[in-house]
Amino acid sequence: MPVAIPGLPRTASSIVDLIGNTPMIRLSKFEAGLRHVELYAKAEWKNPGGSVKDRAAARMIADGECSGALTRDKIILDATSGNTGIAYAMIGAACGYRVRLCVPQNVTPERKKILRALGAEIVFTDPMEGSDGAIIRARAMYAADPDVYFYPDQYNNPGNWRAHYDTTAPEIIEQTGGRLTHFVAGLGTSGTFIGAGRRFREFNPSIRLISVQPDSPLHGLEGLKHMETAIVPGIYEPELADEELGVSTEEAFELTRGLARQGLFVGISSGANLAGALNVARRASDAVIVVIFPDGGEKYLSERFWDEGSDPSGADPLGAPTPRSGEGGSGPLGR
Ligand SMILES: Cc1ncc(COP(=O)(O)O)c(C=O)c1O
Repeated sequence: MPVAIPGLPRTASSIVDLIGNTPMIRLSKFEAGLRHVELYAKAEWKNPGGSVKDRAAARMIADGECSGALTRDKIILDATSGNTGIAYAMIGAACGYRVRLCVPQNVTPERKKILRALGAEIVFTDPMEGSDGAIIRARAMYAADPDVYFYPDQYNNPGNWRAHYDTTAPEIIEQTGGRLTHFVAGLGTSGTFIGAGRRFREFNPSIRLISVQPDSPLHGLEGLKHMETAIVPGIYEPELADEELGVSTEEAFELTRGLARQGLFVGISSGANLAGALNVARRASDAVIVVIFPDGGEKYLSERFWDEGSDPSGADPLGAPTPRSGEGGSGPLGR
Protein backbone atom coordinates (compact mmCIF):
# COMPACT_ATOMS: atom_id res chain seq x y z
CA MET A 1 0.00 0.00 0.00
CA PRO A 2 1.33 3.47 -0.83
CA VAL A 3 2.30 5.48 2.23
CA ALA A 4 0.99 9.05 2.29
CA ILE A 5 3.74 11.49 3.22
CA PRO A 6 2.20 14.60 4.77
CA GLY A 7 3.19 17.79 3.00
CA LEU A 8 4.77 16.06 0.00
CA PRO A 9 4.43 18.43 -2.99
CA ARG A 10 1.95 17.44 -5.64
CA THR A 11 2.85 16.23 -9.12
CA ALA A 12 1.99 18.81 -11.78
CA SER A 13 1.42 18.51 -15.50
CA SER A 14 2.74 22.06 -16.08
CA ILE A 15 5.01 24.44 -14.19
CA VAL A 16 2.09 26.89 -14.24
CA ASP A 17 0.12 24.56 -11.96
CA LEU A 18 2.78 24.98 -9.26
CA ILE A 19 2.14 28.72 -8.85
CA GLY A 20 0.74 29.73 -5.46
CA ASN A 21 0.18 27.80 -2.24
CA THR A 22 3.42 29.20 -0.86
CA PRO A 23 4.43 28.52 2.74
CA MET A 24 4.60 31.01 5.60
CA ILE A 25 7.64 31.19 7.85
CA ARG A 26 7.58 32.51 11.41
CA LEU A 27 10.19 35.21 12.02
CA SER A 28 10.65 34.32 15.71
CA LYS A 29 14.02 36.04 16.07
CA PHE A 30 12.42 39.37 15.21
CA GLU A 31 9.69 38.87 17.81
CA ALA A 32 12.02 39.35 20.81
CA GLY A 33 10.92 42.27 22.96
CA LEU A 34 7.57 42.63 21.22
CA ARG A 35 4.24 42.43 23.08
CA HIS A 36 2.65 39.11 22.11
CA VAL A 37 3.27 39.64 18.44
CA GLU A 38 3.49 36.76 15.97
CA LEU A 39 5.35 37.75 12.81
CA TYR A 40 5.15 35.64 9.65
CA ALA A 41 6.68 36.00 6.20
CA LYS A 42 4.72 34.78 3.18
CA ALA A 43 7.47 33.04 1.19
CA GLU A 44 6.63 34.15 -2.33
CA TRP A 45 10.08 33.22 -3.66
CA LYS A 46 8.85 29.62 -3.45
CA ASN A 47 6.78 30.22 -6.58
CA PRO A 48 8.30 28.39 -9.60
CA GLY A 49 9.44 31.62 -11.29
CA GLY A 50 10.93 32.74 -7.98
CA SER A 51 8.57 35.58 -7.13
CA VAL A 52 5.14 36.83 -6.18
CA LYS A 53 4.67 38.01 -9.77
CA ASP A 54 4.02 34.48 -11.03
CA ARG A 55 0.51 34.79 -9.63
CA ALA A 56 -0.35 38.00 -11.47
CA ALA A 57 1.29 36.96 -14.75
CA ALA A 58 -0.50 33.60 -14.78
CA ARG A 59 -3.83 35.28 -14.13
CA MET A 60 -3.40 37.98 -16.78
CA ILE A 61 -2.36 35.40 -19.39
CA ALA A 62 -5.28 33.12 -18.47
CA ASP A 63 -7.68 36.09 -18.69
CA GLY A 64 -6.23 36.97 -22.10
CA GLU A 65 -6.79 33.42 -23.32
CA CYS A 66 -10.35 33.39 -22.01
CA SER A 67 -11.27 36.75 -23.57
CA GLY A 68 -9.64 35.84 -26.90
CA ALA A 69 -7.21 38.77 -26.68
CA LEU A 70 -4.29 36.31 -26.48
CA THR A 71 -4.05 33.97 -29.42
CA ARG A 72 -1.21 31.70 -30.58
CA ASP A 73 0.07 34.22 -33.13
CA LYS A 74 0.39 37.09 -30.61
CA ILE A 75 3.56 38.15 -28.79
CA ILE A 76 3.15 38.83 -25.08
CA LEU A 77 4.48 42.37 -24.47
CA ASP A 78 4.84 44.28 -21.21
CA ALA A 79 7.02 46.61 -19.18
CA THR A 80 8.70 45.02 -16.19
CA SER A 81 11.60 45.60 -13.85
CA GLY A 82 12.23 41.88 -13.94
CA ASN A 83 10.05 39.59 -11.90
CA THR A 84 6.87 39.89 -13.96
CA GLY A 85 9.06 39.43 -17.01
CA ILE A 86 10.52 36.23 -15.60
CA ALA A 87 7.00 35.03 -14.88
CA TYR A 88 5.78 35.89 -18.41
CA ALA A 89 8.86 34.25 -19.90
CA MET A 90 8.44 31.09 -17.84
CA ILE A 91 4.72 30.77 -18.60
CA GLY A 92 5.24 31.76 -22.24
CA ALA A 93 7.93 29.07 -22.63
CA ALA A 94 5.72 26.47 -20.96
CA CYS A 95 2.62 27.38 -22.99
CA GLY A 96 4.27 28.18 -26.35
CA TYR A 97 3.99 31.99 -26.54
CA ARG A 98 6.64 34.46 -27.67
CA VAL A 99 7.45 37.06 -25.01
CA ARG A 100 8.94 40.55 -25.57
CA LEU A 101 9.74 42.71 -22.56
CA CYS A 102 10.65 46.37 -22.02
CA VAL A 103 13.16 46.37 -19.18
CA PRO A 104 15.25 49.20 -17.71
CA GLN A 105 18.89 48.68 -18.75
CA ASN A 106 20.07 48.74 -15.13
CA VAL A 107 18.17 45.69 -13.84
CA THR A 108 20.58 43.23 -12.33
CA PRO A 109 22.60 41.04 -14.74
CA GLU A 110 21.10 37.98 -13.10
CA ARG A 111 17.62 39.01 -14.24
CA LYS A 112 18.75 39.66 -17.79
CA LYS A 113 20.36 36.21 -17.93
CA ILE A 114 17.28 34.46 -16.55
CA LEU A 115 15.02 36.25 -19.07
CA ARG A 116 17.30 35.25 -21.94
CA ALA A 117 17.58 31.66 -20.69
CA LEU A 118 13.79 31.43 -20.70
CA GLY A 119 13.75 32.64 -24.30
CA ALA A 120 12.31 36.14 -23.82
CA GLU A 121 13.27 39.00 -26.14
CA ILE A 122 14.39 42.09 -24.22
CA VAL A 123 14.00 45.73 -25.25
CA PHE A 124 16.23 47.77 -22.96
CA THR A 125 15.08 51.22 -21.85
CA ASP A 126 16.89 54.20 -20.34
CA PRO A 127 18.09 53.32 -16.82
CA MET A 128 17.61 56.92 -15.71
CA GLU A 129 13.89 56.63 -16.51
CA GLY A 130 13.46 53.50 -14.37
CA SER A 131 10.29 51.45 -14.69
CA ASP A 132 8.42 54.50 -16.07
CA GLY A 133 10.69 54.55 -19.13
CA ALA A 134 9.87 50.86 -19.73
CA ILE A 135 6.13 51.57 -19.42
CA ILE A 136 6.31 54.42 -21.95
CA ARG A 137 8.22 52.22 -24.43
CA ALA A 138 5.80 49.29 -24.09
CA ARG A 139 2.82 51.60 -24.64
CA ALA A 140 4.44 53.03 -27.78
CA MET A 141 5.26 49.58 -29.17
CA TYR A 142 1.71 48.37 -28.59
CA ALA A 143 0.21 51.54 -30.09
CA ALA A 144 2.35 51.09 -33.21
CA ASP A 145 1.47 47.38 -33.70
CA PRO A 146 -1.68 46.45 -31.77
CA ASP A 147 -2.32 43.36 -33.89
CA VAL A 148 1.11 41.90 -33.20
CA TYR A 149 0.95 42.01 -29.43
CA PHE A 150 -1.01 40.84 -26.43
CA TYR A 151 -0.31 43.67 -23.98
CA PRO A 152 -1.48 42.66 -20.49
CA ASP A 153 -0.34 46.05 -19.09
CA GLN A 154 0.21 44.84 -15.54
CA TYR A 155 -0.13 48.37 -14.12
CA ASN A 156 -3.71 48.69 -15.33
CA ASN A 157 -4.95 45.09 -15.57
CA PRO A 158 -7.50 44.04 -12.92
CA GLY A 159 -6.28 40.45 -13.32
CA ASN A 160 -3.11 41.57 -11.53
CA TRP A 161 -4.84 42.44 -8.24
CA ARG A 162 -7.50 39.75 -8.65
CA ALA A 163 -4.78 37.08 -8.60
CA HIS A 164 -4.01 38.12 -5.02
CA TYR A 165 -7.67 38.56 -4.10
CA ASP A 166 -8.35 34.99 -5.22
CA THR A 167 -5.17 33.23 -4.06
CA THR A 168 -2.66 35.10 -1.85
CA ALA A 169 -5.21 36.44 0.64
CA PRO A 170 -7.27 33.24 1.07
CA GLU A 171 -4.02 31.32 1.61
CA ILE A 172 -2.97 33.76 4.37
CA ILE A 173 -6.39 33.60 6.02
CA GLU A 174 -6.13 29.81 6.02
CA GLN A 175 -2.50 29.74 7.17
CA THR A 176 -3.19 32.06 10.12
CA GLY A 177 -6.40 30.26 11.04
CA GLY A 178 -8.21 33.55 10.41
CA ARG A 179 -6.21 35.29 13.19
CA LEU A 180 -4.47 37.84 10.94
CA THR A 181 -4.47 41.36 12.44
CA HIS A 182 -1.98 43.22 10.18
CA PHE A 183 -0.93 42.79 6.56
CA VAL A 184 2.23 44.45 5.22
CA ALA A 185 3.21 44.57 1.54
CA GLY A 186 5.30 46.81 -0.70
CA LEU A 187 3.94 48.70 -3.70
CA GLY A 188 5.24 48.02 -7.20
CA THR A 189 2.26 47.75 -9.51
CA SER A 190 0.37 47.58 -6.17
CA GLY A 191 -1.35 44.35 -7.29
CA THR A 192 -0.31 42.34 -4.23
CA PHE A 193 -1.36 44.98 -1.72
CA ILE A 194 -4.60 45.99 -3.42
CA GLY A 195 -5.82 42.48 -4.24
CA ALA A 196 -4.97 40.86 -0.92
CA GLY A 197 -6.02 43.99 0.97
CA ARG A 198 -9.47 44.05 -0.60
CA ARG A 199 -10.03 40.42 0.34
CA PHE A 200 -8.88 41.01 3.93
CA ARG A 201 -11.20 44.05 4.22
CA GLU A 202 -14.15 41.86 3.29
CA PHE A 203 -13.06 39.03 5.56
CA ASN A 204 -12.50 41.19 8.63
CA PRO A 205 -12.63 45.01 8.41
CA SER A 206 -10.46 45.39 11.53
CA ILE A 207 -7.39 43.88 9.80
CA ARG A 208 -4.89 46.73 9.39
CA LEU A 209 -3.49 47.14 5.88
CA ILE A 210 -0.01 48.67 5.72
CA SER A 211 1.68 49.58 2.43
CA VAL A 212 5.41 50.08 2.04
CA GLN A 213 7.23 52.18 -0.52
CA PRO A 214 10.65 53.81 -0.91
CA ASP A 215 11.04 56.99 1.13
CA SER A 216 12.62 58.88 -1.78
CA PRO A 217 12.41 58.96 -5.60
CA LEU A 218 15.99 57.72 -6.05
CA HIS A 219 16.26 54.41 -4.26
CA GLY A 220 17.67 50.89 -4.46
CA LEU A 221 14.47 49.00 -3.68
CA GLU A 222 14.06 47.08 -6.92
CA GLY A 223 10.43 46.18 -7.56
CA LEU A 224 9.02 49.01 -5.42
CA LYS A 225 7.72 52.40 -6.59
CA HIS A 226 7.84 55.85 -5.00
CA MET A 227 4.25 56.63 -5.89
CA GLU A 228 4.41 60.38 -5.41
CA THR A 229 6.94 60.79 -8.20
CA ALA A 230 6.14 57.79 -10.43
CA ILE A 231 3.51 57.00 -13.06
CA VAL A 232 0.76 55.86 -10.68
CA PRO A 233 -0.64 52.43 -11.65
CA GLY A 234 -4.30 52.49 -12.66
CA ILE A 235 -5.04 49.61 -10.29
CA TYR A 236 -3.66 51.49 -7.25
CA GLU A 237 -6.15 52.68 -4.65
CA PRO A 238 -4.28 54.68 -1.98
CA GLU A 239 -7.37 54.95 0.27
CA LEU A 240 -7.23 51.20 0.96
CA ALA A 241 -4.18 51.53 3.20
CA ASP A 242 -4.62 52.21 6.91
CA GLU A 243 -0.98 53.27 6.95
CA GLU A 244 1.59 54.11 4.28
CA LEU A 245 5.18 53.62 5.39
CA GLY A 246 8.31 54.91 3.70
CA VAL A 247 11.47 52.81 3.99
CA SER A 248 15.03 53.88 3.26
CA THR A 249 17.28 51.85 0.98
CA GLU A 250 19.86 51.53 3.77
CA GLU A 251 17.36 50.08 6.22
CA ALA A 252 16.14 47.58 3.63
CA PHE A 253 19.72 46.54 2.79
CA GLU A 254 20.54 46.02 6.46
CA LEU A 255 17.48 43.90 7.11
CA THR A 256 18.01 41.91 3.90
CA ARG A 257 21.53 41.09 5.12
CA GLY A 258 20.16 40.25 8.56
CA LEU A 259 17.62 37.86 7.05
CA ALA A 260 20.33 36.10 5.03
CA ARG A 261 22.34 35.58 8.23
CA GLN A 262 19.29 33.72 9.53
CA GLY A 263 19.20 31.52 6.44
CA LEU A 264 16.49 33.53 4.70
CA PHE A 265 18.17 34.51 1.44
CA VAL A 266 15.60 36.94 0.07
CA GLY A 267 15.49 40.02 -2.14
CA ILE A 268 15.74 43.67 -1.15
CA SER A 269 12.01 44.38 -1.19
CA SER A 270 11.61 41.65 1.45
CA GLY A 271 13.99 43.64 3.66
CA ALA A 272 11.97 46.78 2.92
CA ASN A 273 8.69 45.08 3.73
CA LEU A 274 10.20 43.69 6.93
CA ALA A 275 11.24 47.22 7.93
CA GLY A 276 7.60 48.22 7.58
CA ALA A 277 6.41 45.17 9.50
CA LEU A 278 8.83 45.84 12.38
CA ASN A 279 7.69 49.46 12.53
CA VAL A 280 4.13 48.17 12.98
CA ALA A 281 5.14 45.34 15.32
CA ARG A 282 6.86 47.68 17.78
CA ARG A 283 3.61 49.60 18.23
CA ALA A 284 1.30 46.54 18.31
CA SER A 285 0.29 44.06 20.98
CA ASP A 286 -1.52 40.72 20.69
CA ALA A 287 -1.03 40.86 16.94
CA VAL A 288 -0.59 38.39 14.08
CA ILE A 289 1.35 40.20 11.36
CA VAL A 290 1.96 38.79 7.89
CA VAL A 291 4.54 40.41 5.63
CA ILE A 292 5.09 39.56 1.98
CA PHE A 293 8.60 38.43 0.98
CA PRO A 294 8.28 38.89 -2.82
CA ASP A 295 11.41 37.15 -4.12
CA GLY A 296 14.69 35.44 -3.32
CA GLY A 297 18.22 36.82 -3.06
CA GLU A 298 19.81 35.12 -6.07
CA LYS A 299 18.86 37.86 -8.53
CA TYR A 300 20.65 40.46 -6.40
CA LEU A 301 23.96 38.64 -5.92
CA SER A 302 25.84 41.22 -7.97
CA GLU A 303 24.72 44.01 -5.61
CA ARG A 304 27.48 45.40 -3.42
CA PHE A 305 25.38 45.80 -0.31
CA TRP A 306 25.88 42.17 0.71
CA ASP A 307 29.44 43.03 1.71
CA GLU A 308 28.68 46.37 3.32
CA GLY A 309 27.09 47.46 6.59
CA SER A 310 27.39 46.11 10.08
CA ASP A 311 29.47 43.04 10.89
CA PRO A 312 27.02 40.14 10.82
CA SER A 313 28.76 38.58 13.80
CA GLY A 314 28.37 41.82 15.75
CA ALA A 315 25.45 43.21 17.68
CA ASP A 316 21.94 43.39 16.30
CA PRO A 317 22.22 42.67 12.58
CA LEU A 318 18.69 41.35 12.83
CA GLY A 319 17.02 44.69 13.24
CA ALA A 320 15.83 43.78 16.74
CA PRO A 321 13.30 46.28 18.01
CA THR A 322 15.66 49.05 19.05
CA PRO A 323 14.66 52.44 17.60
CA ARG A 324 17.25 53.86 15.17
CA SER A 325 17.31 57.57 15.81
CA GLY A 326 17.80 60.09 13.05
CA GLU A 327 18.73 57.58 10.34
CA GLY A 328 15.69 57.96 8.16
CA GLY A 329 14.26 54.60 9.18
CA SER A 330 10.80 53.50 8.15
CA GLY A 331 8.10 55.96 9.05
CA PRO A 332 4.87 57.48 7.86
CA LEU A 333 5.15 59.08 4.44
CA GLY A 334 3.41 62.14 5.79
CA ARG A 335 1.15 62.72 2.84
C1 LIG B 1 10.98 42.26 -5.98
C2 LIG B 1 9.60 42.82 -5.99
N1 LIG B 1 9.06 43.21 -4.85
C3 LIG B 1 7.82 43.74 -4.81
C4 LIG B 1 7.07 43.91 -5.93
C5 LIG B 1 5.72 44.57 -5.82
O1 LIG B 1 4.65 43.75 -6.16
P1 LIG B 1 3.35 44.37 -6.82
O2 LIG B 1 3.68 44.64 -8.26
O3 LIG B 1 2.31 43.32 -6.67
O4 LIG B 1 3.02 45.64 -6.11
C6 LIG B 1 7.60 43.53 -7.13
C7 LIG B 1 6.87 43.75 -8.38
O5 LIG B 1 7.39 43.57 -9.47
C8 LIG B 1 8.90 42.96 -7.18
O6 LIG B 1 9.47 42.58 -8.33
